[in-house]
Amino acid sequence: MNAVYEKLQICYESMQEKTDFKPLIAIVLGSGLGDFAEDIQIETTVDYKDLPDFPVSTVEGHKGRFIFGYVEKVPVVIMQGRVHYYEGYDMTDVVLPIRLMKMMGAKALILTNAAGGVNDEFDAGDLMMITDQISTFVPSPLIGPNLEKLGERFCDMTGIYNDRFQDIFRRIARTLEIDLKEGVYVQLSGPNFESPQEIKMCRILGADAVGMSTACEAVAAKHMGMKTCGISCITNPGAGITMKPLSHAEVQETADKAAPVFKALLKEGIIKIAEL
Ligand code: 6GU
Repeated sequence: MNAVYEKLQICYESMQEKTDFKPLIAIVLGSGLGDFAEDIQIETTVDYKDLPDFPVSTVEGHKGRFIFGYVEKVPVVIMQGRVHYYEGYDMTDVVLPIRLMKMMGAKALILTNAAGGVNDEFDAGDLMMITDQISTFVPSPLIGPNLEKLGERFCDMTGIYNDRFQDIFRRIARTLEIDLKEGVYVQLSGPNFESPQEIKMCRILGADAVGMSTACEAVAAKHMGMKTCGISCITNPGAGITMKPLSHAEVQETADKAAPVFKALLKEGIIKIAEL
C-alpha cells in the first residue's frame, strides 16, 4: 500500500479504538479561536500525540487535539491547533488530519485562520470570508502517487469554497451585523512574514489576505469532494502597508480581540450548514 494512505489508515484505526463519534462538520481553529471548542458540548477529546505518527505542532500557543461534540444538535469534530508546512512536515502530513476527519464521516469543512491583510482597505480585526485561493507558492498536498480511494489524479479546483456555504455566511453576517469582508487568500510557506515587496506581489496577483495555512487543506478537501468554507481573521496589515514591524504577539492579540465575533459567526455557520 502507498505509504501516505497507510499512515492515514493507521491513524484512522487508532482513532476508531478511541471513539466511534461520527462528525457531520469538521472545523479547524486558527490562532485566537482555540477556545471556541470550550463552549461546545464536548463528548470526547483525542490528543494528536496519542495517534501514531500524527503530526504535532511545535508552535507555542497552538494546542493539539481533536474535540468531538455537539454545537446545538450538530455533531462536530474540531481541530484545536494545526500543523504548518513551515514546521518542516511534508504537505501530506499537514493535510492528514483533514483526510482523517473526512474518513470519520465529516461532509463539510470550515477552515479558519489568522492572516495578514493584503487588501489595504482591510483593518486589523476584520473578518474575511475566503472566496478563492492561491496555493501555488507551496507544494500541492496531492504530489506523489494519487490516493485513488480519496479522489482523482487531476482534480478540479473550481468552487473550492462552496457557494452555498458562502451565502450562508453572508446572511449570518447581515443578521448579526458583522462587517464580513470577502476575498482571495494566498498561502505562502512562512515562517517569516513577507517583505513589503512580496505583499505588493500578492496584491498584484489578486490576493486580499496572506497566511501560512488553509489553502493546502482546502486542496486536500476538494480532492476528496468535501465541501469547504474558510474565514480569516485579519490580524494585521501585511508588511509595507504601515511601517510597523510585524510580530506574532500582535497576531495573537488581535485574533483574541476578534474572537467573540468570530465565534458567533462560526457557531451560526455550523448550525446553518448542518441544515443544508
Ligand atoms: Cl502579514 N503574513 C503571513 N504569511 N501570515 C500571517 C500574517 C502575515 N499575519 C498573520 N498571519
